[in-house]
Amino acid sequence: MNLRPIQSELFLSLQPLVLVLLDITPMMTVLEGVVMELQDCALPLLREVIPTDKEEVAFKDLDIAILVGSMPRREGMERKDLLKANVKIFKSQGAALDKYAKKTVKVVVVGNPANTNCLIASKSAPSIPKENFSCLTRLDHNRAKSQIALKLGVTSNDVKNVIIWGNHSSTQYPDVNHAKVNVKGKEVGVYEAIKDDSWLKGDFILTVQQRGAAVIKARKLSSAMSAAKAICDHVRDIWFGTPAGEFVSMGVISDGNSYGVPEDLLYSFPVVIKDKTWKFVEGLPINDFSREKMDLTAKELTEEKETAVEFLSSA
Ligand code: LMR
Repeated sequence: MNLRPIQSELFLSLQPLVLVLLDITPMMTVLEGVVMELQDCALPLLREVIPTDKEEVAFKDLDIAILVGSMPRREGMERKDLLKANVKIFKSQGAALDKYAKKTVKVVVVGNPANTNCLIASKSAPSIPKENFSCLTRLDHNRAKSQIALKLGVTSNDVKNVIIWGNHSSTQYPDVNHAKVNVKGKEVGVYEAIKDDSWLKGDFILTVQQRGAAVIKARKLSSAMSAAKAICDHVRDIWFGTPAGEFVSMGVISDGNSYGVPEDLLYSFPVVIKDKTWKFVEGLPINDFSREKMDLTAKELTEEKETAVEFLSSA
């Protein structure tokens, strides 16, 4: 029996929520509209919605912080300019978490560049354990599952243990060497099931790496529904743990990993979660093809980090 839908249902039916929504002052009237919509959803467990433009209100005693807002890249903007603007935002939010949130708070960073924004927020909140910070690569993870499922004509629930390594950017490495797929009741490796190595090493990887850009091109807007679903998956797994025999991808602090990824990077790894605590999945064999791709995305994250840390003291 697949327990995932039941587990999501449990979250909805057992966990009362107080939602605190933070935005900048000029957006307060828009936020009122969001509050009205939330009320109109008649969600039985939504106990209160608090809209605010004040960090001391927004971050007070939080259990979970989902940091969605960031400065989006505009035409003509250099990557450095983007990082500079975001370091300012995430330094301020990290400091506010440090000051006002519970020390057990789980922080999920979604705003791009998500990995480096998350690292900056964590560095700006020294009293909160680094392990409490994660960034969203579940969207890429879900995209990878779905591409495999579409290719085989199975459902995405039949695919498990794909991995997203590295940055939530076009250098990310979607890896299916350890993934399994249920074909007609039999669990087999993805390479064995698909029997098309050149697709798996070529178009599959490119499609997942470039999916965010493809959605923006088609919609003229960034992903919304799929990102929201991925946030729900990510937070549900932090709260309830990952199912037995399954792992998921999350951007987490790289300290102590056994995969040769440099320390002090916010890098996406395969993790299992129990009692609201994640652990690296250890001991997966890494072939030369994967090694090269994992190093490439680590290099990009190292460069992003160096630039961001440079700005941190002046932000
Ligand atoms: C996505 O992966 O869909 C987004 O992170 C893309 C973006 O830049 O907003």
